[in-house]
Amino acid sequence: AASVPLKNITNRYVGSAVAATYLASESDYRAVLTREFDNVTPENEMKWGTVEAVRGQYDWSGADAIVRYAQRTHKTVRGHTLVWHSQLPDWVAALPADELRGVLRDHITTEVKRYKGKIRAWDVVNEIFNEDGTRRDTVFRQKLGDGFVADVFRWAHAADPGAKLYLNDYNIEGVNPKSDAVYDLVKTLRRQGVPIDGVGIQGHLSIQYGFPGEYRANLARFARIGVETAVTEADVRIPTPPDPAKLATQASYFGQLWDGCHAVSRCVEFTTWGFTDRHSWVPDVFPGEGAACLFDENLHPKPAYYRLNP
Ligand code: XIL
Repeated sequence: AASVPLKNITNRYVGSAVAATYLASESDYRAVLTREFDNVTPENEMKWGTVEAVRGQYDWSGADAIVRYAQRTHKTVRGHTLVWHSQLPDWVAALPADELRGVLRDHITTEVKRYKGKIRAWDVVNEIFNEDGTRRDTVFRQKLGDGFVADVFRWAHAADPGAKLYLNDYNIEGVNPKSDAVYDLVKTLRRQGVPIDGVGIQGHLSIQYGFPGEYRANLARFARIGVETAVTEADVRIPTPPDPAKLATQASYFGQLWDGCHAVSRCVEFTTWGFTDRHSWVPDVFPGEGAACLFDENLHPKPAYYRLNP
């Protein structure tokens, strides 16, 4: 790796998604994470489907382990995520409306209080918009109405007033109908006094689709209304197998994401969705694509890493 760790060359939080199992079982994985990053985001360990798969039976083991690791190694934690239609237990989805509201409130209060003072920022809601900027039709929307979004931010704030609270989504890197809708909603919520601090821009890119247009202008418009931004889940997929040209394009995309965040005030964090191709969600979800991370399967830095940290 470069002589100076990535976290030491930037005044932004620089993080990675992390899995508790690998943190416990792979010392080389743990060593690179500890050396290079100063924020961690639990990849699955704080999702509802993990912490309360069965009603009333909580499993905090993975989340606790990651938070403990972060405290020991002086890293911040991005909590991910409180309200999401995916990885949502079936028992929650099946609740009648009146019960869902109370259960959602309890879920948020229980989880946020458990880690009070230990989470820098929470992804309170995840992926609530469609590509055309309309609201995604989830069980939360169907049963509680669009107003559930304001409610969940208020509940999270009451449980830990010190944590920054974010709305998080994908395909909102550039200016487009979806990011326009995010912008409008955040503006409205803030006018209403709802405690929302930031917008998380996931940053799942593919070299096949081009770099998003007007990325910096998009970050800048949020800064102008006093809203933080964070790149929360950056990775850049490559049609397999990777070759030097593809890796160079990948490096350029990572570089543009990184430079834009550093060029715009209030972009406070750059977090990648995993740091090694050894453990990435990409090949499982996007057949024919992979090699999306800064480090290869042997934990060697790739051209993208050297683009950020020459
Ligand atoms: C993914 C995880 O990486 C996988 O391990 C899991 O099987 C599915 O979820 N957007 C998000 C993340 O906000 O929570 C997703 O994480 C990736 C897309």
